[in-house]
Amino acid sequence: MAMERQLSSPSAAGVGLLGAGVVGSQVARVLVQPDTDFRHLLSLNGILVRDKSRPRDGVPSDLITTDPERVLGDDRNDIIVEVMGGEEPAHSYMAAALKAGKHVVTANKEVLAKYGDELTNLAAENGVTLSYEASVGGGIPVLAVIQDSLRANRIESIRAIINGTTNFVLSSMEESGSSFEDALAEAQSLGYAEADPTADVDAHDAVYKLSILTRLAFGASVNPEAIHREGIRHIGAKDLRYAGALGFTIKLLAIARSDANGVRCRVHPALVPVEVPMANVNGVLNAVELNGDLLGPLWLQGRGAGAGPTASAVMGDVLRIAKTMFTQSGKGQSTNNGSSTREIEPDVIDMDDLRVRYYVRLAAIDKFGVLAKVASVFGDAQISIASVLQFDSDDERGLADLVIMTHPSREANMQEAAMRLRQLDVVASLENLIRVEDYDEV
Ligand code: NAP
Ligand code: HSE
Repeated sequence: MAMERQLSSPSAAGVGLLGAGVVGSQVARVLVQPDTDFRHLLSLNGILVRDKSRPRDGVPSDLITTDPERVLGDDRNDIIVEVMGGEEPAHSYMAAALKAGKHVVTANKEVLAKYGDELTNLAAENGVTLSYEASVGGGIPVLAVIQDSLRANRIESIRAIINGTTNFVLSSMEESGSSFEDALAEAQSLGYAEADPTADVDAHDAVYKLSILTRLAFGASVNPEAIHREGIRHIGAKDLRYAGALGFTIKLLAIARSDANGVRCRVHPALVPVEVPMANVNGVLNAVELNGDLLGPLWLQGRGAGAGPTASAVMGDVLRIAKTMFTQSGKGQSTNNGSSTREIEPDVIDMDDLRVRYYVRLAAIDKFGVLAKVASVFGDAQISIASVLQFDSDDERGLADLVIMTHPSREANMQEAAMRLRQLDVVASLENLIRVEDYDEV
């Protein structure tokens, strides 16, 4: 049963902030900035942190507290902005706020991916709004586009770069020859990375975001655990160099397609042809390609992480809610950013029948007869080889880097071939296996 929420003050919407780190501090600064045309609409009443002694430039220190009740239990707060991150206590705080009839704005993709249905239902039951534009694509308003502008479309596919940290790392490794560790440290210092950057590097963050996109675009609740996930740890400078020589770059892509058979979602590094726009999405930029049945392809690009872009998305949600509260004369509203009119339990299609081209890098013994043995493994797995190139040699160990590009092949066959290549006496190691993303269709 939806309740009506009354404005705590007739003139301004009260805001309580959970977290004042990279994003929260920027949101606080925007909220208290004196010269904005929305200053009079919003009143910041409290800011929850863990450590009160940490310096926070431009954040009103008199509002800072370590007591969650001082923010969540403050009757003046109409809107709770959650920018703490992590699963708990963020999830419980958001649930409590919604149950108390407060609107919630969050940038937390982990909680939305894991508890999106529960929180969406709580928002609807309590007649309040749950908004989470900042959880996907940083400052890019992709969720609003899916939910509003493309509402009449059936979205068929999504292909995206939705993790700024890994895109920054791969771009830095390629452009300036940075090491993986140095590039990651720089992304952390710029405020792009998660508190635990393994969430970025091992692609959990991108999986959470793809799960959110999938729920909104396809009306399909796909458990993040069901999404195929590979991070970028195994991508070496050599792969970027060899891919470049073959006319590709390497990006961490999040891809989802929906058809009559169900939904297939995957996040993994992919070779992307240098001539397509996705190859030129560098640094912290994110990009999302959507394909709607009425519109056709749509391309959205912008800064995907960092204080400014994320605060931009958070404040967009806050102001949309405040505007609705005032135009509805203090009455709450039950639409929210998480519902879909096309909720389905999708069949999640596994990876086995995926057909793509593959890049395979082997460290192989550098002598006659090796290629024949390697080729026979591909032949036995019914995989057709498109090209074989020999790159760097390690004369001391008598090894050479072989890069094999295949024609489109079935994933299960490629995995079978990979297993047999690892067992081959002429192969010292299978160094990498990367899918190619072809661009003849979105
Ligand atoms: P952050 O810099 O680590 O800030 C987290 C803030 O929350 C800090 O102020 C911290 O307090 C506070 N906090 C954490 N756990 C707490 C607890 N148990 N009790 C009280 N306070 C707690 O994180 P961030 O980069 O701003 O990210 C915040 C959220 O936005 C995350 O969900 C993240 O995924 C999302 N996001 C971030 C970006 C980005 O570019 N950074 C972009 C999009 C979305 P202390 O300051 O006292 O430690
Ligand atoms: N750590 C995330 C990223 C922040 O690098 O994309 C933005 O969600």
